[in-house]
Amino acid sequence: MKYPQSRPRRLRKSAAVRRLVQQTRLHPANFIYPLFVSETVSEPEPIETMPGIFNYPVDRVAAEAKKAYELGIPGVILFGTPSKKDATGSESLKKDGVIQKAVGNIKQAVPEMLVITDVCLCEYTDHGHCGIVKDGRIDNDETLKILARQAASYAKAGADMVAPSDMMDGRVGAIREALDEYGYIDTVIMAYAVKYSSAFYGPFREAVHSAPQFGDRKTYQMDPANADEAMKEIALDIDEGADIVMVKPALAYLDIIARAKAAFNVPLAAYNVSGEYALAKLAGANKCANEKQLVMEILTAIKRAGADIIISYHAPDVAGWLRESE
Ligand code: PBG
Repeated sequence: MKYPQSRPRRLRKSAAVRRLVQQTRLHPANFIYPLFVSETVSEPEPIETMPGIFNYPVDRVAAEAKKAYELGIPGVILFGTPSKKDATGSESLKKDGVIQKAVGNIKQAVPEMLVITDVCLCEYTDHGHCGIVKDGRIDNDETLKILARQAASYAKAGADMVAPSDMMDGRVGAIREALDEYGYIDTVIMAYAVKYSSAFYGPFREAVHSAPQFGDRKTYQMDPANADEAMKEIALDIDEGADIVMVKPALAYLDIIARAKAAFNVPLAAYNVSGEYALAKLAGANKCANEKQLVMEILTAIKRAGADIIISYHAPDVAGWLRESE
């Protein structure tokens, strides 16, 4: 017998044929760009561990959102730092809170842009936990009441979507109920359905000063060793009313993304988190890799695994690169 009997290289022979058979393509329309808004800065302040990413004052964030929109990115997800933090995160419920104001500013400047708000307490609590603390423990059901009010407040401010990231049990149902009760029947819920307790959130916690002041998040965020539990969390969130479900982080959890895509029929988002961003930027800056190639490969892998939507700090760079290669 004479080898080779098959020649797969035929389909890799030229750029034209490679393009023809390419199965996964990134497009700006599938990206969401995270933006940090802070009441503690008066000028955009660089986040040291995330080169190229800033904390924006409330009156400067709309311009940044507009730039992203003009690059073809349809949505932003907002994270806020209030000037005051307390035990219950009460600043998050204020009509003129940092996120409520940012939503209004963006909606006014770019009405077509999808504005998504993270729903959680950790950016607003002085102890840094994602829930109400009682006797040193996170009180699930007390937390639900505040999360539901927070989501309704963001919807009232004009948010198109709310994205609960706290990992309390039953929060999607509690939020859906509150939204419907106040008449926000069209506000979309994008649930952080599968959120692992991950070292990849380090730079984010620096950015919003939300590292827990005692203990860790392991009683609510998932153990990275578990996969079946991820399927259970997604099923629960869909049942409670999630319109879009998310897996987070992305790169180290491609197997979870692939399983979720195979098992469920709702749009699937993946969050390419702050630590993943930092790794790629540092590798690029230290000449360990070509940054553009590395980032495009990582994001293509996340999409190939099954993500319909990618939340990424690289979004504007990617949109720019895709435009250049058209
Ligand atoms: C808030 C929240 C976190 C992230 C998104 N929402 C941090 C955390 O859970 O500690 C992380 C995003 C990132 O790392 O880019 N609960």
